[in-house]
Amino acid sequence: MTEKHEHMSTGSYNFETLNDSDFQAERLRQQAEAVRGMEIGILRSAGIQSGHDVLELGCGPGFVSDLLAELAPEGSLTVVEPSPILLAQVADNIRNKPARGLLRIQAYGDCLPIPEASMDFSYARFVLQHIPQPETVISEIHRTLRSGGRFCVVDSDDGLVVFYPEDPRVNQLLRTAQTTQAEKGGDRFIGRKLPNMMAKAGFVNINSRVLALTSSELPFNVLFNILLGYKASLLSDAIDIKQLFQDLSEQVASGCQLIAGGVFIVTGEKS
Ligand SMILES: C[S@@+](CC[C@H](N)C(=O)[O-])C[C@H]1O[C@@H](n2cnc3c(N)ncnc32)[C@H](O)[C@@H]1O
Repeated sequence: MTEKHEHMSTGSYNFETLNDSDFQAERLRQQAEAVRGMEIGILRSAGIQSGHDVLELGCGPGFVSDLLAELAPEGSLTVVEPSPILLAQVADNIRNKPARGLLRIQAYGDCLPIPEASMDFSYARFVLQHIPQPETVISEIHRTLRSGGRFCVVDSDDGLVVFYPEDPRVNQLLRTAQTTQAEKGGDRFIGRKLPNMMAKAGFVNINSRVLALTSSELPFNVLFNILLGYKASLLSDAIDIKQLFQDLSEQVASGCQLIAGGVFIVTGEKS
């Protein structure tokens, strides 16, 4: 292994070692389906076009890949994913392959086996928060884009999470998960840092927005899993997550509890 390869890792998201990988796959599927309509709007306003050569970084099982294929039917889709188990599922989750093909690559975003200036549009959704060197990955994406190509990142920032009234178990879950994820090289506050990182990598025309959703807008189980599901898998037995789910679910149903969470959507262009 070269020095460059030694630091490559799945950081705070290693699917093979998550103790609840079936649940995590189901969580990703729910997430993708619940926001599919919104995500079409995000991707279109970020500039994806029918004939684009599209790159998806950290595609997981491919629930979002299906959407990218639908939005660029005349182009091509290259998906990059370090987990061989997840990568093997992608083809089954894409209903219509793009006209110029689907290419699956098992790799880390830190060193993409993809030629320079070969992509029109790249997307990374809930990936950079897990990676120890997101700056290196952003530079790699910049290298592989053609001039005028766009990179769109959707990622979390725990500063956008609101639970009212506060529940000490939620606060404990959030705090411990932030520390645990940081110890594994991830960052639960990456959302706010993305514009700066993209500017430093050479992107121009950077546009940032925050999309926030409340417990009135998404089904409770979906919002709960988006905000706390992955964190719960980091904490294993520290908190009775089923009990917490039950309590909050009842409080939301009775109107006594408000939950809100947001993501940063940041888009930049290669000059
Ligand atoms: C939370 S999942 C998101 C999957 C998918 N983007 C979605 O939104 O459904 C994070 C993904 O990033 C992948 N990943 C982790 N480290 C990576 C790296 N260094 N380069 C590329 N992908 C990575 C993981 O294997 C996992 O599939």
